[in-house]
Amino acid sequence: MTIAETLSIRKLKDNYGAEVLGVDVSARDADTLQEVVNTFNLHGAVLLRGQSLTPEQLVNFARAFGQPEGHTIKEHTMPGFPEIYMLSNREVNGKPIGSHRDGVGWHTDYSYKEEPVMCTMLYAVEVPAEGGDTLLADMCAAYDALPEAKRAELDGLKVHHSYEHLMTTRLYAKRELSPELKAENPDVIHPLIRTHPANGRKALWPSSGTVKGVIGMENPAGVDLVDSLVAYGTQDQFVYRHQWQVGDLLVWDNRCSLHTGSLFDDKKYIREAHRLWVKGDRPF
Ligand SMILES: [Fe+2]
Repeated sequence: MTIAETLSIRKLKDNYGAEVLGVDVSARDADTLQEVVNTFNLHGAVLLRGQSLTPEQLVNFARAFGQPEGHTIKEHTMPGFPEIYMLSNREVNGKPIGSHRDGVGWHTDYSYKEEPVMCTMLYAVEVPAEGGDTLLADMCAAYDALPEAKRAELDGLKVHHSYEHLMTTRLYAKRELSPELKAENPDVIHPLIRTHPANGRKALWPSSGTVKGVIGMENPAGVDLVDSLVAYGTQDQFVYRHQWQVGDLLVWDNRCSLHTGSLFDDKKYIREAHRLWVKGDRPF
């Protein structure tokens, strides 16, 4: 029996994602946290419900996975906790406490960096009664389901990712970059098919938002190809839809997943979620 099988789990989908049952993250038990990480490595995503965590406990949980990554935009990090990024439509004294309508559209986090984040974790503090789901797509399953000829056609292709392109073209929360943000986030090139460093599985790894094109292809053919692969890989059979409850802690592996947020009635409901990132490697 592997260590991970000592935990009680319930699968989120047949071959992707696991809910870990009966674990209280606030207890900070190192062996148990390591078992949660093992489960994550086996399943691509883990969910732990009913948590009640201080910011310190949340950062400690992230450290079980690796080194927390800083956030590109600092203005919405939690005061005193640069590892925690606030996602919220709440305003205090007329000022938003977090970023709102971030991450709507299928993507993988930090794809505009040389070393995109290994995993993303979201902890739900307050949730809308309806809407605001997070969807995860299993990109290993999407790759595995491709016909052999299509895999051969895509093999070796490289994608041009750009933070500036993302921020100046996205539908919500569009913004011009400051000279500092521009300098800190130069364009990068990543493979379209990446290999998971822990288990060797191949994943289709397109994204929306940051993609400017495919190396060696003219546009619109390049962006159209990537868009078509996003549409293919996010069909229902590859997708887990997470409906949030207060106290949910959801972690997904960006090396083999795409994700998207979804909108909710922000005049009627408040949402507050805390996001943490863990450093990753250069995709290959
Ligand atoms: Fe995201």
